[in-house]
Amino acid sequence: MENIRVLGIETSCDETAAAVVEDGRIILSSVVASQVDLHAQFGGIYPEVASRQHILNIYPIIETALREAHMDLKDVDAIAVTRGPGLPGSLVVGINAAKGLSLGSGLPLLGINHLEGHLYSAWLHEFSGELPPEPRFPLLALIVSGGHTELALMEDHRIYRRLGGTLDDAAGEAFDKVARLIGLSYPGGPAIQRAAEDGNSKAIKFPRAWLPGTWNFSFSGLKTAVLRTVRELEADADAEELPVADLAASFQDSVVDVLVKKTLEAAKELKAKEILVAGGVSANKALRETMIAESRLPVHIPPLSLCTDNAAMIAGAGCYRFDVGQRDGLDMDALPTWPLSEISS
Ligand code: KG4
Ligand code: ZN
Repeated sequence: MENIRVLGIETSCDETAAAVVEDGRIILSSVVASQVDLHAQFGGIYPEVASRQHILNIYPIIETALREAHMDLKDVDAIAVTRGPGLPGSLVVGINAAKGLSLGSGLPLLGINHLEGHLYSAWLHEFSGELPPEPRFPLLALIVSGGHTELALMEDHRIYRRLGGTLDDAAGEAFDKVARLIGLSYPGGPAIQRAAEDGNSKAIKFPRAWLPGTWNFSFSGLKTAVLRTVRELEADADAEELPVADLAASFQDSVVDVLVKKTLEAAKELKAKEILVAGGVSANKALRETMIAESRLPVHIPPLSLCTDNAAMIAGAGCYRFDVGQRDGLDMDALPTWPLSEISS
C-alpha cells in the first residue's frame, strides 16, 4: 500500500471521533470527543443523549482532524465510517455526515465494521519514525469491549473465522455493571482497575465460567456472585464498610483469568502465530500484563489511546479495504448488529 490517506469517522457509541490515517499504519491526526462526563450522571450510556451529542460534535471534530493532519478533504482518498455494530441513533449521525461529505467532494465512501476497526488498531502507530512490526497471520484475536467479547482467528487481512463470544454480558459490560454494584463510578473498567490496585485479588473466590469444549464466555454468573457477596456483606451487622478494593481485585482477577487462559488455549489449538487483544477492556493493566506474561507467542495490544473507541482504527481498516477496491453507495444503511463472521472477503 502506498500513499493512501483515509479520513475515518466513528460514532457507534458514546465517542464522536475523526482521524486521518496513511497506509493503514500512520496516524496523521486522531481526535476523540468523549461523552463520558455527560453519561456518568446516568450511570451508563443514554442513547438519545449520545445521538444528540454526536450531532453537535461531528462537523467540528472532522474539521479538527483534517486541520491537525494539515489537510483539506481534497487531500484524502476516501471517507471511511463505522457502519455497525453499535447504537442505531449514534451510527446514523456518523454515516450521514460521511455521506454528505462524500456527495459534496466526490470522494469514495466506505462502511467499516467497528470490530474490524478495533483489530486494525494493532497496525497503527502514533509516531513518525520506524514502524513497529506488523502482526503476522494466522492471528488469534480477542476483542473485548463494552458491547462485545469475541474470539476469532484472523487468517489474513479481512479474513476472519469466528470461534466464539460471550453468551450474555460483554467483558466491559461486566466491568461497568459490577462497578455500579460496589459503588464505583461509570465507566466501570478504569474505576475497577484503580480500586483493584489496593486490593487482594485472592481475597474473595469468585467463579470462573470455563464453558469447556467451546470458545464462548459468560460473565453473568460472576456478576450475580458479586451481587450475592455484596448483599451478604451488607446484611452482616458486624461488617464494616464494603471491602471495595478486594471486591474489585477479585472480580478483575476472575475476568482476566478466563480471558487469558481461553485465548492462549485457542491460539495453541488453532496454531496461531501471534495474539492480538483489542477493544476498550484491552486497556486493562492486569489483562495486558497477564496476557504478555503467560503467552509464549508474541502479543499485540494497541497503546491505551487506541484501545477505547477512536476513528484512527476505522480509517486504518478503511485504508486496507480501499486498497482492495471496496466502495459503498450513498444508499448504505447502518447495521446495528453486524457480526465479524459476515465481513470476511
Ligand atoms: O471499545 P470501547 O471503547 O467501546 C465499545 O466498543 O464498547 O469499550 C468500552 C468498555 C467499557 O465497558 C469500559 O468500562 C471498558 O471498555 N474499559 C475498561 C478499561 N478501560 C475501558 N475495562 C477494564 N479496564 C480498563 N482499564
Ligand atoms: Zn469499541
